[in-house]
Amino acid sequence: MTGVTLRAEPVRPGARVLGFGGHQPAKVVTNHDFAAVMDTSDEWIRSRVGIVERRLAGPDETITDLAVQAGGKALAASGLAPSDVDLVIVATCSAETPMPSHAPAVAHRLGIEAPGAYDLNSACSGFCYALAAADAAVRTGSARNVLVVGAEKMSQWIDQTDRSTAIIFADGAGAAVVGPSETPGIGPVVWGSDGSAPERIAIADRTSFIRQDGQAVFRWATTAIAPVALAAVERAGLVPDDLATIVPHQANLRIIDAIARRIKATNAVVADDITRSGNTSGASIPLALAHMIERGDVPSGAPALLVGFGAGLSYAAQVIQIP
Ligand SMILES: CC(C)(COP(=O)(O)OP(=O)(O)OC[C@H]1O[C@@H](n2cnc3c(N)ncnc32)[C@H](O)[C@@H]1OP(=O)(O)O)[C@@H](O)C(=O)NCCC(=O)NCCS
Repeated sequence: MTGVTLRAEPVRPGARVLGFGGHQPAKVVTNHDFAAVMDTSDEWIRSRVGIVERRLAGPDETITDLAVQAGGKALAASGLAPSDVDLVIVATCSAETPMPSHAPAVAHRLGIEAPGAYDLNSACSGFCYALAAADAAVRTGSARNVLVVGAEKMSQWIDQTDRSTAIIFADGAGAAVVGPSETPGIGPVVWGSDGSAPERIAIADRTSFIRQDGQAVFRWATTAIAPVALAAVERAGLVPDDLATIVPHQANLRIIDAIARRIKATNAVVADDITRSGNTSGASIPLALAHMIERGDVPSGAPALLVGFGAGLSYAAQVIQIP
């Protein structure tokens, strides 16, 4: 056995997001729609969760369908052609079937030929994990450009008669195209997990629906996540006042407000997409960003803090530059 030196690609100075895109199903379900069929009210949902309405996919609308729509918009926003992309990552925790993964079919339907393609499951923090993977792939030369999609059809794992979950979770997709950059446009990821009590948000088996210990998750999210977010700001070489926006996972408006209060970023617009989109798990961060960019809420080049957290428990945060 003789020692050999393997060749590695030269490391690129940075990667950045070139474009975002979002897509939601057409069907709008309001709090009043729920109140008509179960013991809940618009007032309860608005005050405890912050949701006004959400979108649910139809029976024939798949995660792949949602991902293709969002991915196509992100590609268009990036100015790249499908042939420029050579890696596709789909973050999802609500897959219809365990295999095959969604990414190859998403790539095929977008005309991206023979890319590396895989799904990633880190639930509601999945998009931030996938973005970190895309950043590393571009910087180390494993990929030229990467399509990262968060896509969820949570409604298929929800008992639509369970008022504690049906009103919260929703369907949708958000996507980003990541490409090389002369300077870093995606900061270091700060991530971690706590697997000591996985049942706090879980689908127990293939015949079950999502169940959660809402109060335990609420306590964890409002205490453990702000320090992770602050660490990501520091690792990016910034201070909170540099941030133009904070985009926490859209789980609950009270959680979002609690995290934002502890970050104390006086100039930052805080994403509140949950009000109109519900909790779309791994799709919520890119979907919220796509909506904010569409509305002109955040200027191009400005620093945005992304903070994902959820089942696992798992979490991840990084600062990016708005494309
Ligand atoms: C789920 C959540 C909204 C519940 O709010 P809460 O203030 O903690 O409410 P509780 O669970 O203490 O329930 C209080 C009461 O409201 C009831 N309730 C639950 N859902 C309700 C609804 N949709 N409408 C009306 N009442 C409801 C409960 O049954 C309970 O009734 P009881 O007192 O008669 O037993 C909240 O805990 C939460 O958002 N947790 C975080 C969950 C989350 O974000 N998960 C995803 C993370 S990725």
